[in-house]
Amino acid sequence: MLELRVNDQITLRQLAPGDASNLYRQIDASRKTLRKFLPWVDYNTNEEHSLRFIQLMQRKADEQEAMALGMWYQEQLCGVMDLHGWDHLLQKAEIGYWVSEAFQRKGIATACCKALISFAFKNLRLNKIEIRFVLQNERSGQIPIRLGFTKEGILRHSAKLHGQYVDMVVMGILREDWKF
Ligand SMILES: CC(C)(COP(=O)(O)OP(=O)(O)OC[C@H]1O[C@@H](n2cnc3c(N)ncnc32)[C@H](O)[C@@H]1OP(=O)(O)O)[C@@H](O)C(=O)NCCC(=O)NCCS
Repeated sequence: MLELRVNDQITLRQLAPGDASNLYRQIDASRKTLRKFLPWVDYNTNEEHSLRFIQLMQRKADEQEAMALGMWYQEQLCGVMDLHGWDHLLQKAEIGYWVSEAFQRKGIATACCKALISFAFKNLRLNKIEIRFVLQNERSGQIPIRLGFTKEGILRHSAKLHGQYVDMVVMGILREDWKF
């Protein structure tokens, strides 16, 4: 099971079925803020849904298609960071993230993202990483900006949030531009 020590307070660890109820509690406690930009939150209404998500991501990790890592702050599960859209031909993938409300604004997402990117460039031999976020999601957008990503464009009407089409910003970074 993959585990990355981010710093003395934060660890990234691959989610396992035993984390399902803990994961569900984090989602349920932050439902109001998370649902604003994450449409799946409204469909995650019991522990079984979190268990199925973990099992799906385990299967995808086995196939090297994606992986879901729990973000642990002082040994408490506080969010999820995932790698998806893993394209082996192009050596490219996307990173996504959410942090439960009580743990936001501590720099956890930025620190985890930095650690996962270094791991992906070094150990997964990726050449490019993208982060996509809804145009209005400024806090999410600050993370790739802080990490030196380049804005590559806006995909118009490329997601649906609560019945409305929304535009997505794409930001990317190449291995040659990453400061390990
Ligand atoms: C977007 C989101 C993941 C950011 O999580 P986070 O852990 O709070 O984000 P960061 O790591 O960027 O935290 C940075 C904030 O912590 C503060 N901070 C405190 N200590 C810090 C440190 N050591 N290093 C960096 N920032 C630190 C920064 O000043 C910054 O504050 P600001 O937001 O007022 O500018 C979170 O708000 C979230 O889950 N939102 C809802 C879901 C969502 O939108 N997901 C993204 C979909 S694309």
